[in-house]
Amino acid sequence: QLHQEKYLSNGELLSWKGKTDEVYSTISSTEDYKPTLLGTVPHMDENAALEVLKSATNAYNKGQGDWPTMKVADRIACMEDFVEQMKTKRKEVVKYLMWEIGKSLPDSRKEFDRTVEYIIDTIADYKQLDRDSSKFHKKSGVYAHIRRGPLGVVLCLGPYNYPLNETFALLIPAIMMGNTVVFKPAKHGVLLLSPLLEAFQTAFPKGVVNVIYGRGREVAAPIMKTGRIDVLALIGNSKSAIALQDQHPYKNRLRLVLGLEAKNPAIILPDADLDLAVEECISGTLSFNGQRCTALKILYVHEDIREEFNKRYAKRVDELKFGNPWDEDVMLTPLPEADKPKYIQELIDDAKDKGAKILNERGGETSNNFIYPAVLYPVTEEMRVYKEEQFGPVVPIKPFNSIDDLLDEISASNYGQQVSLFGTGIEKIAPLIDTLVNLVCRVNLNSSCQRGPDVFPFTGRKDSAVSTLSVHDALRSFSIRTFVASKDK
Ligand code: G3H
Repeated sequence: QLHQEKYLSNGELLSWKGKTDEVYSTISSTEDYKPTLLGTVPHMDENAALEVLKSATNAYNKGQGDWPTMKVADRIACMEDFVEQMKTKRKEVVKYLMWEIGKSLPDSRKEFDRTVEYIIDTIADYKQLDRDSSKFHKKSGVYAHIRRGPLGVVLCLGPYNYPLNETFALLIPAIMMGNTVVFKPAKHGVLLLSPLLEAFQTAFPKGVVNVIYGRGREVAAPIMKTGRIDVLALIGNSKSAIALQDQHPYKNRLRLVLGLEAKNPAIILPDADLDLAVEECISGTLSFNGQRCTALKILYVHEDIREEFNKRYAKRVDELKFGNPWDEDVMLTPLPEADKPKYIQELIDDAKDKGAKILNERGGETSNNFIYPAVLYPVTEEMRVYKEEQFGPVVPIKPFNSIDDLLDEISASNYGQQVSLFGTGIEKIAPLIDTLVNLVCRVNLNSSCQRGPDVFPFTGRKDSAVSTLSVHDALRSFSIRTFVASKDK
């Protein structure tokens, strides 16, 4: 067990003397099912959080040579130091990724390695950005030195499904651009950051990175209320983002960098390569049990092929292996949120009540913290699983006949992240691709939806995102063009 009693403020790892929160894994270490106590973290309160905020604002307001005004080369050296220290913690972080959120061993390693690569790419892109954007201009007798500068103090909150990679996709570019940060990890995937606290402390000047723990409404909300936060950076659900935004007394001046919900559809056209479509839809819908914002969350299958597609897809779902994250070839693992199986069961029951059937034999089988994926067909607009972002192992399939009606349906959705399109006559479907890409932000041809490679823009329309996250774009999302002007050269 790891009793993590420190939090990071003003460059110091301070011991928390108050209440603590227990961190459980839904993976049982005994034969008779019992969640495993992994450790504890500070349950901080409002006063402590506000003290930490002071450290971030002081660090931002410092003069020449401190973090926001530091030379590019020096700032890069700090980031390089951080990533070198981080690399030495791979084993520990991967272990917690498996225990805390149930991510499989290969995916946990991938998450770690992808994050290291993200930081290295961010450093390279930052050098390029500085070269391209730091320029002298002259117009109408005014000389200006224009460059990209930081926005201020960032409140950063990451999600449980990618507690390392997605959190760092916010944190790293925010820091790199010279902002200072107060960061609160997600409830699940919190201990895995403990091995990295010392690296944050030693690699960056004091007050640049601050780490707090506790409940959002007890620590993050009071921080927002002060009006001292310039950027809210959050990956999670819109409800939490709106609740925090609403706390800020001057909402209009708050910059938002948000990765929110999605209900990415796959469209399977009559001429699709069915073997390929089935395999891509399997990983697209169910890798990490469907707990990905980019997961395929509804499959639209053309009437002409739906019988064959449904049969093959449902059979493949029943072949998927369930086990602990370290077992070989597992795709389905224990769900980190203890109440998730109940929620998924509610969606299944609601769809069944309204006329859908479970197509696969094992669909809905439950045991403790696990529910076997259910493939539901035919799904209609009245069903909860059609409307809600399930973020778990249940797959709605809806038949379609007319592509025009389907486009209307996709355009009426509250979400607009990605689409997968399966078909072979690419030239014939080119106009469809053009339309779809204007309804979402990424169309994946004959492949499932995904966020990577991390250098490509990651964003969404409507309720799916605000601003763009990717190595390249996030540096811009966390900065503003500033300049010094003079009439003298
Ligand atoms: O939860 C949303 C993640 O950004 C998904 O990332 O497509 O690499 O799994 P991924």
